[in-house]
Amino acid sequence: MSQILEKAREYELQQEKTVPPGTRPGYHFSPRVGWLNDPNGFSWYKGQFHLFYQYHPYGPQWGPMHWGHAVSKDLIRWQYKPAALAPDTPYDEGGCFSGTAETLPDGRQLLMYTSVVWLPDDPDHRGFQTQSLAVGDGENYSKYEGNPVLTAEDLPKGGNPYEFRDPKIWQEEDGTWRAIAANQNETEGAQMLLFRSRDGWSWEFAKTLVRNDHRLGTMWECPDFFRLDGKQVLIGSAMNMLEDDREFHSGNNSFYMTGEYDRESESYREEVVRPMDYGIDFYAPQTLEAPDGRRILIGWMQNPDTANQRTVSNPVFGQMTIPRELSIRDGKLYQQPVREIAEYHDDMAEYQGVTIEEETSLPGVSGRQVDLDCTVYMEPRKGNRFTMRFAKDADFYTELSYFPEEGIVRLDRKFSGQRRAIIRHRDAKVSTDGVLKIRLLLDRYSVEAFVNEGEKVMTMTLETRLSAEEITFAAEGGATMDIRKYRLRSGDEQK
Ligand code: FRU
Repeated sequence: MSQILEKAREYELQQEKTVPPGTRPGYHFSPRVGWLNDPNGFSWYKGQFHLFYQYHPYGPQWGPMHWGHAVSKDLIRWQYKPAALAPDTPYDEGGCFSGTAETLPDGRQLLMYTSVVWLPDDPDHRGFQTQSLAVGDGENYSKYEGNPVLTAEDLPKGGNPYEFRDPKIWQEEDGTWRAIAANQNETEGAQMLLFRSRDGWSWEFAKTLVRNDHRLGTMWECPDFFRLDGKQVLIGSAMNMLEDDREFHSGNNSFYMTGEYDRESESYREEVVRPMDYGIDFYAPQTLEAPDGRRILIGWMQNPDTANQRTVSNPVFGQMTIPRELSIRDGKLYQQPVREIAEYHDDMAEYQGVTIEEETSLPGVSGRQVDLDCTVYMEPRKGNRFTMRFAKDADFYTELSYFPEEGIVRLDRKFSGQRRAIIRHRDAKVSTDGVLKIRLLLDRYSVEAFVNEGEKVMTMTLETRLSAEEITFAAEGGATMDIRKYRLRSGDEQK
């Protein structure tokens, strides 16, 4: 093991003990110490789920990238493993960026990641980005002596070697391997490239799978590519997007495409493209296929533009979304929290047909670790508006509003305790039939609102002090509501 990796492993083991209780999210994954961004190598291997992550152990800010590592049986309770990769070779001394994992026929686990070397004194902070391999047993990984396996020479003409990263690998039924990686082309457009390998070790360029043709930002990152419910889904995370009415917001957004993939010619025909999430803090997701066939997604619960704008300082920074089960219905991608979360439910409170008008609270409905299911019935008349406030006390609250006539759901954290001039609310369009289903997962530092059974999801981080625990409901124009609320236990809390 290199000294750099050994140092990181010793450091995280020692420093983990100094993280004050209560500074981590209750049931969302957070780094062992320091900083976390993208999920990496999200996989099922040797009887458990593995989650690696972009990791800077030495402080709560982005820095030389390592791969952190954790395992889980149920996707909620995670157990840390020693850091898996460190930037410790001449070809990745600038960082081990994002990548994925697959099981080799001999039972070992193969990681493909982006190896970075910074250009000296470059005013644009560019680095050469190549793709490299590491192989291991679920705990210790060694880098392949043939690294890097994909370099600037493998790019199609005009491909930018400084913007070439985040390979997603898989094995085809005939035993050969594929990888899809993100790249920028000569016109400052984004493209996803397909690579091929006979054995998983020796790789070559196959073709350009998709180009963005100047839609959806200037560079795409973190591709994922899989079959789901009869469609081929391509997920990407776009940089430098323009605001577009109630779909994408400016900055970085993750999107999904559904389409058809012809395996013979290896060509992809895109049908629709939509945002993965209508909140603010969601990026760089990855998926895996669970042994029971479920396609499960996990994302970095942060917006890269604002991840460093926070004013609350915790020794540990960054969290993942709740893992989400994916399905396609009527051409749309639906997301639902993994069903395993029901194992962490406690203290149920249930109400049927409650009439709401003035702001009101309901006995048993409060808290900062909550799974709340709510159906609202309301006349779609002008001026009507339903609001739910949570993480609330005398000074702060975050608000979810529903405007039935306009067919809009709004999540607004203006009064959540933010001290920076950054976007604070986002809208999602819903039908105008006057019925809204919301499932709210509230944790100490975040909220995820699953709208209409996960047809749209709105994810935001919160900086509100933890004592703000009230939840209230109000309806201008009147509404009735069915509601079921559970407290959610933390992963390490006993039943
Ligand atoms: C996305 C990303 C990836 C890259 C990694 C570096 O958030 O920029 O493209 O591999 O983060 O940490």
